[in-house]
Amino acid sequence: MMTIEEQKMKVANAALKYTGDHRIIGVGTGSTVNYFIDALATINHHLEGAVASSIATAERLKCIGIPLIELNDVNELSLYIDGADAYNPHCQLVKGGGGAMTREKILAYASRQFICIVDKSKETRVFGEFPIPVEVIPMARSFVAREIVKLGGSPAYRQNFVTDNGNIILDIHDWVVAEPIKLERALNNIPGVVGNGFFAEKPANLILISEQEEIHILKARF
Ligand code: A5P
Repeated sequence: MMTIEEQKMKVANAALKYTGDHRIIGVGTGSTVNYFIDALATINHHLEGAVASSIATAERLKCIGIPLIELNDVNELSLYIDGADAYNPHCQLVKGGGGAMTREKILAYASRQFICIVDKSKETRVFGEFPIPVEVIPMARSFVAREIVKLGGSPAYRQNFVTDNGNIILDIHDWVVAEPIKLERALNNIPGVVGNGFFAEKPANLILISEQEEIHILKARF
């Protein structure tokens, strides 16, 4: 039996072959992506540089000698690679366990292709089991929390955490999410919300899923 860490490593390695022709890629955040960065360091890649979705990822890319490029300096990214906290059969995701989802979503939207790398333990039919993170401007925290309650969720302030953008996170618990696109939009409509962890309106194009020795591929139908 492979451990979860070994399965994360396996799927991260499987993503390498998708980077082949790309000169500049976007790189997500999290432990699975960290394995991907480690794997990149071991191959002869053709990358001119990468756009990082977080300060943590930028540090790691720097350590392996991949030049960092600002999103503002590229027209469009051809590929974005990132993990997720949960995925469903429609390639929709919940992200932001590490609090980086706002920048992650910007990169996912700015990229022609978004390949998500996960292990099978992240599979879910209905979102809600993994808390939905919401990035909020600090002075709006209580107001946004009350609005989330009106939407049926229970927001919890993520203690001692500040995002790379200087904001706070509210994690929404106890939400049975039947319509993720509707809730993604509803959250975005609350003044003070900077971003949220649903990647539903624009799902991943492809999800690589490790399950023990196997890699499964799930494709979005647009
Ligand atoms: C970071 O904010 C998240 O969106 C990560 O992509 C997500 O939490 C997956 O992380 P792991 O690969 O560590 O499970």
